[in-house]
Amino acid sequence: MKLQQESLYLIGFMGAGKTSVGNLLGDMCGLAVIDTDQVIEKQENMPIRDLFERHGEAYFRELETDVLQKLANGGAGAPAIITTGGGIILKEKNRQLLKESGRTIFLQCNPKVVVERLQQDTTRPLIKNKTIEEINHMYQMRLPLYLECAITSIDTSAQSIKEVAESIK
Ligand code: S3P
Repeated sequence: MKLQQESLYLIGFMGAGKTSVGNLLGDMCGLAVIDTDQVIEKQENMPIRDLFERHGEAYFRELETDVLQKLANGGAGAPAIITTGGGIILKEKNRQLLKESGRTIFLQCNPKVVVERLQQDTTRPLIKNKTIEEINHMYQMRLPLYLECAITSIDTSAQSIKEVAESIK
């Protein structure tokens, strides 16, 4: 894959495989991989979970938009693979940036599979203590927003990380 001027964004719900697929794809294509959550964690010097606890979701969302805006304005220095937090599509401004500044791929995943994958996870504040029904509801609310931003989508529910990365490539 050659990204001549634009970055490639991977969007999708928590547990869809954005970070794993992005890292493998970066290796396969020799491209830098930038994860918006990791940029925030480094900048704030604390894990996302603590950031939510201390400052709340709204504060995190402001930082997220700020990071995306910088990357969309060429902050990566060269076209890169940019992996994003699952809620990046919630803000209209972010959706515009995703549509205008690169090519965005939606990694779709069945919510039941998401729940299985994240059963032991303690790092994601938004699914902590949530029932399967609540997670499913959150997924359904977000689905049209992911679809709005993406030029294409790939279902990761029954595919390996390698298969997904190869089909993107
Ligand atoms: C979030 C997803 C997380 C992280 C934060 C909020 C969300 O990223 O940005 O916990 O709103 O879906 P991952 O999608 O990488 O888990």
